[in-house]
Amino acid sequence: MSVLIKNGRIITPDADYTADIFIEGETISAIGKNLSAGQAGLNVKANKEIDASGMLVFPGGIDPHVHLDMPFMGTFSSDTHETGTRAALFGGTTTVIDFVLQTQGKSLQSALDDWNSRAKGNAVGDYSFHMAVTDFNENTKKEIKHFIEEEGITSFKTFMAYKGALMIDDRQMIGLMEEVKQHGGLINVHATNGDMIDYLVQKHREEKKLSPLYHYLSQPEVTEAEASERFVDMGNYTGCPGYIVHLTCEGALNAVRNATKRNQHVFVETCIQYLILDASLYEKDFEGAKWVMSPPLREKKDQKTLWAGINQGLVNVVATDHCPFMWEQKLMGEKDFSKIPNGHPAIENRMELLYSEGVAKNKITLNKYVEVACTNPAKIFGMFPRKGTIAVGSDADIVIFDPNKKHTISAKTHHMNVDYSGYEGWEVTGKVKTVLLRGEIAIDNNECKIEKGFGKFIKRNKVAQNI
Ligand code: URP
Ligand code: ZN
Ligand code: ZN
Repeated sequence: MSVLIKNGRIITPDADYTADIFIEGETISAIGKNLSAGQAGLNVKANKEIDASGMLVFPGGIDPHVHLDMPFMGTFSSDTHETGTRAALFGGTTTVIDFVLQTQGKSLQSALDDWNSRAKGNAVGDYSFHMAVTDFNENTKKEIKHFIEEEGITSFKTFMAYKGALMIDDRQMIGLMEEVKQHGGLINVHATNGDMIDYLVQKHREEKKLSPLYHYLSQPEVTEAEASERFVDMGNYTGCPGYIVHLTCEGALNAVRNATKRNQHVFVETCIQYLILDASLYEKDFEGAKWVMSPPLREKKDQKTLWAGINQGLVNVVATDHCPFMWEQKLMGEKDFSKIPNGHPAIENRMELLYSEGVAKNKITLNKYVEVACTNPAKIFGMFPRKGTIAVGSDADIVIFDPNKKHTISAKTHHMNVDYSGYEGWEVTGKVKTVLLRGEIAIDNNECKIEKGFGKFIKRNKVAQNI
């Protein structure tokens, strides 16, 4: 199979030009002006030609923070590897990184086996895994090298919160950092102070303050700022590369800013919701459960800090933390906010919302857009230049995007397996038109053209120390 994409405006973090792209099999084999199938050097006639005049052409989006079919808070997130990766493709995301969760008392390998049994043969789009270490001990320690060198799983997630379920203490964190550093991996962290949050949750429950608003009030900014600073300091001490997931607020970003003053490099991810939604949504009584996630939505001043952080190069990635639950699942916490499954759906909306709210509203440039949504996740997590760029030899994961097309987000039309949208009625400028995944047309004019099982597990290389 060969495809010729004609006259698209190709965007990467450091380029913006109009050219043609020739794809043979799964990879890009030529980029140039006025390429025609059959000319010298292009000895295969293209099976298909796509006219991309007037369109933006950028690398397939990479969402490095999603939770698919994940057992959590007494239920499972509602998108499977099939429905979640398909919805991602509709929104221009060709590769996702999902989280495998170790069960405390069991091995990392048994958790991976469990996730493989749900993901293998089911994914439509490409995927990889982070390994979440929830119980670091002498046995777990022995498994780290194998995961990095043999499994291609080079990033290890830690939780400084979710006390009693997923949280590890600082002793375990330091030990894990030393081991991961030694073998060329990276630590991802959910950086909030689990003990403080646990205290505040119990206090609010005792006071019968049980609505979703108290989820927000149980996780004030200081819980995130404190844990981020502690994580950064432990990373500085051990020299282990660190990546803070879903960073939401000014206080936490200032901890990273301070680290850069002492020449420490820490990677930072925020998520689309923290850039464009705010905590006033928790005042909608139980409807606020749609946005019950951890950390919670913050204030307008934090949105400003995050947009500025992207432009300052302090925030490297915009992900989703996609963790959808049906409304019926959210109702598990109708009488007690602490029982509302944490998470919201966005895997399909990230690329279009970030374009519409970021690029179309002049908050970020097109180059920055591609950098934070496509290229940096590939570089940080050991997939570049196979993924995350448009270059000869790279996988032909390509989005053809109409920058002027307007549409409205709705649960009635989205493809995620969830019966509400956190963005219902949002007017969006810019729409994904065609998506190629490894040279195959995956999405065209709002139709999925590939089947479950097409998505491949992507083994990743050792991670970047710097980007
Ligand atoms: O609310 C969230 N974020 N749910 C998913 C688990 C996590 O903390 O990332
Ligand atoms: Zn988290
Ligand atoms: Zn998450």
